Amino acid sequence: MCGIVGYIGGQNAAPILLEGLTRLEYRGYDSAGIAVLGPKDTTQVHRVVGRVRNLTAALPKRLTGKVGIGHTRWATHGPASEDNAHPHTSEDGRISVVHNGIIDNADALRAQLADAGVKLTSETDTEVLAHLIARSGADTLEDAVVEAVSRITGTYAIAVTDSAHPDRLVIARNGSPLIIGVGEREMFVASDLAALVRHTSQVAHLDDGEFATVFATGYRTFTVDESDTTKPTTEIDIAAEDLDLGGFPHYMAKEIQEQPESIERIIRGRLDHRFGVARLDGLNLTPRELRGFSRVKILGCGSAYYVGQIGATMIEELARIPADAEAASEFRYRNPIIEADTLYIAVSQSGETIDTAFAVEEIKRKGGRVVGLVNVVGSTIARACDGGVYLHAGPEIAVASTKALTNMAVGFALIALSLGRVRDLSNADGQRIIAAIRALPDQIRTILAAEGEIAEHAKVAASANSLFFIGRVRGFPVAREGAQKFKEISYRHAEAYQTSELKHGPLALIDESLPTVAIVPADELADRNLAAMQQIRARGGAVLAVTHEDVDFGELDVPRIVVPRTEPELDPILLTIPLQLLAYHAALTLGYDIDKPRNLAKSVTVE
Ligand code: F6R
Repeated sequence: MCGIVGYIGGQNAAPILLEGLTRLEYRGYDSAGIAVLGPKDTTQVHRVVGRVRNLTAALPKRLTGKVGIGHTRWATHGPASEDNAHPHTSEDGRISVVHNGIIDNADALRAQLADAGVKLTSETDTEVLAHLIARSGADTLEDAVVEAVSRITGTYAIAVTDSAHPDRLVIARNGSPLIIGVGEREMFVASDLAALVRHTSQVAHLDDGEFATVFATGYRTFTVDESDTTKPTTEIDIAAEDLDLGGFPHYMAKEIQEQPESIERIIRGRLDHRFGVARLDGLNLTPRELRGFSRVKILGCGSAYYVGQIGATMIEELARIPADAEAASEFRYRNPIIEADTLYIAVSQSGETIDTAFAVEEIKRKGGRVVGLVNVVGSTIARACDGGVYLHAGPEIAVASTKALTNMAVGFALIALSLGRVRDLSNADGQRIIAAIRALPDQIRTILAAEGEIAEHAKVAASANSLFFIGRVRGFPVAREGAQKFKEISYRHAEAYQTSELKHGPLALIDESLPTVAIVPADELADRNLAAMQQIRARGGAVLAVTHEDVDFGELDVPRIVVPRTEPELDPILLTIPLQLLAYHAALTLGYDIDKPRNLAKSVTVE
């Protein structure tokens, strides 16, 4: 949520900052701004409401300066306005700050500053930092930043410029990611690798509680008591082309199409057909430890939570141990009981979702064992966990997650195999699942080939103001995720129910104006699903079934999207794919901004 970039070196900073901000726009896109240190100890600050392209258009033709910071915002304190956009500056204009995260004690600090005669010009929490740094009276910029940061509580990633010290940027991190990119006599700072890959492959991730001074020729990292820390660089594993649209109209379309290959990446080298098991060395769990768990608890937010529910069912079915998923955003607030024989799994694409990161902290604080199912390598959650399985989905840019979720579901299948094969899952059953996992990429290609047909169904769905998505047991989290994707980008009300719950209340809403998308796999519940669809039809409600070829619909004449069958435990993976296309084409029909839906951002690093 929100993006930070910084540059110091021999080139003109503005174009580099703007390009970086464009790359980060998916993290927040309601306003943007840059500060560039100019000649004669001045700072040139430009801020606009809206997208980075508005900022580019608003900049003066000649904006020179070789040091600068930039920000793209997702509003938390105060609406999207020019005054609230970052960078924020001190009264004398000397200090400029960009910030991701939330300062919890901002109101108190704002009041103190106002009492001291400071004229606050925004409604943001961030502005206090600029004033605190400027007023610190410390001898060095580093000391002033440390002093200011010591007065705030909350989460932050910040980058600071001081026109009196144009040879450096000072940055700090607590709870929001911040990365230094190392170039040839130039250095970059960003909240996300996406802004760095075009410039360098050498990066250093700051840890929570760490500060850094970044010069054109190097950097120094240190802690709040000014002790130096050792921060070696690592090599980025993303190619610049991975971040381009590659001819697709939207990142979401590209990422949906990439799913077969992204599944191939997550399973590469991890499936052992002979022993019917998955090899997940990164979990850091011995077979004995795996066997010692008597329960699994999965934690994630939003769609990651829904996929967690898919995973919990897989684990119960294949490993026969109780498993459930819970919204990480609620978990830590109910003082959860952490049990030594429970395996906790944190699931997150970004690895930066603060609610999930806090849930991990809560588990660790209470001595629990938590592993991650995370996409972004080196992210906060990945580093905080005791071990994990990287998703290898590649960069995901569209706010509406697709390929990462599919890889999460496959990741859960791998974990379920590992837990199952140290228990009662037979070698033959393990091999059955492995063969089915290997077949998934081609089966997804078949579903994707039916995109034109799904697009036609989407046009019909887009014409309704409200939709139900229904499913049972394995199909219910599929329905939840289908409704989530639909509402997120088409802005249509879409609500998921267990099919079995319809008659306990929601059926009252069914009429000609409220269509239902029903998830109807060819499993032991197919007959009951058919009966529910009949009840909907009898009340005039339209139904679109996402189903398998061999489900016998008898007299029931409803439109169907047919997906290939896999092993029943893996059905949710394939049943979800058409719902992504349904949402995408509904949003396309309605003409919405598919990759950047209103009010949302890709990586939710605030509570
Ligand atoms: C929906 C979506 C969100 C995320 C959620 C968690 O399409 O993308 O619901 O799933 O914000 O994000 P991560 O997986 O990054 O923790």
